[in-house]
Amino acid sequence: MRISFGELRIGDIARQRIQASLEKNWVSGGENVAEFERLFAAHFGYRHAVAVSSGTDACVVSCATLYGLGARRGDEILVPACSFVATSNAVLAAGFTPVFVDVELETLNIDPARIESAITPRTRAIQVVHTMGKPCEMDSILEIAQRHGLTVIEDACEAHGATYKGRVVGTLGNLGAFSFYAAHLICCGEGGMVVTCEDALAREASSVRSHGRPCGDIYFDFQRFGLNAKMNDLEAAIGIDGLAGFDEVFETRKRLLYRLLDQTRDLEEHAHFLVEAPHEKVAPHAFPLVLKDPRRDARALYKFLETRGIQCKTLFGSLPTQHRAFSFLGHQLGDFPVAEYIGENGLHFGCHQYLSDEDIDYAAEALHDYFAKA
Ligand SMILES: Cc1ncc(COP(=O)(O)O)c(C=O)c1O
Repeated sequence: MRISFGELRIGDIARQRIQASLEKNWVSGGENVAEFERLFAAHFGYRHAVAVSSGTDACVVSCATLYGLGARRGDEILVPACSFVATSNAVLAAGFTPVFVDVELETLNIDPARIESAITPRTRAIQVVHTMGKPCEMDSILEIAQRHGLTVIEDACEAHGATYKGRVVGTLGNLGAFSFYAAHLICCGEGGMVVTCEDALAREASSVRSHGRPCGDIYFDFQRFGLNAKMNDLEAAIGIDGLAGFDEVFETRKRLLYRLLDQTRDLEEHAHFLVEAPHEKVAPHAFPLVLKDPRRDARALYKFLETRGIQCKTLFGSLPTQHRAFSFLGHQLGDFPVAEYIGENGLHFGCHQYLSDEDIDYAAEALHDYFAKA
């Protein structure tokens, strides 16, 4: 594939730290993990950062901290109907029930206007997703959460460094979850981070990630539900390296994203493209689009781009009605019309820092060729 979703290139900082770990015969969580947590928190302005083994685990751990706030098994967490599956699987994995809320076509994010009617006496939290790096409409979401006494978890796995009204994602709600899988703005191979500015939640998250043990040093004292969700020192070494280059990666990706957006402005009659509003800074995660006319056939476009060497993925679609994994909840097709439309008519492809200007121009040309032909 000429245009992939991302690449991992391991730099000198990581190599030296990995080598040092190997020489110490210690590769489980240690100095590198502690350093990565410290640097990540400092770089983005979080009070606490708790490194975990994946973005999925960052979501599971975040959800499981709700027990410390009085939640009970089976309580409900609101999630967007259209997102990568990990957000909703995390709710199940932590012992809660996902309640899906439809999304907005233009932002791909949870629709604040539909949140309130999904709240029940068992709702404990809203786990929003800043899809494709675009921050959710947080003022409305936080206002609803506050009125109903709900915790807000930001799944920021696709949104490292994005800001909303001058505040970085992960500081807007109570907890934030990040992924460091390949293709994300910081990559460890596998890895994730839970961030929070609340001391009690940080203690809870640290304990959940390590079998529910207390954060002190008494072994085999299990105080709460827990997992082995720990990051290891080899992954953290790669993360430290990625963080050192983060600002440059962000700027390069953003420049390339705008290069492609600028070259596809004349295609706006055919598709919704990403829009960055003045109050926000979108993290350049990838290049999403949703066709305006279903007859343009997103599956055909997907295949067309792939034959041109552009690796594509759908835009997830409606988890409760277009994916069997959540059919046990009993929803019917039509219950989440916007998520379903995006599922049928959306796709995204990579826009990462190792692409050249020529690659971007090539992608723009491929899109023009498709719409000229269709
Ligand atoms: C929104 C969202 N949440 C969670 C995850 C899960 O992260 P990971 O693959 O690191 O488990 C991803 C992964 O891409 C994601 O996009």
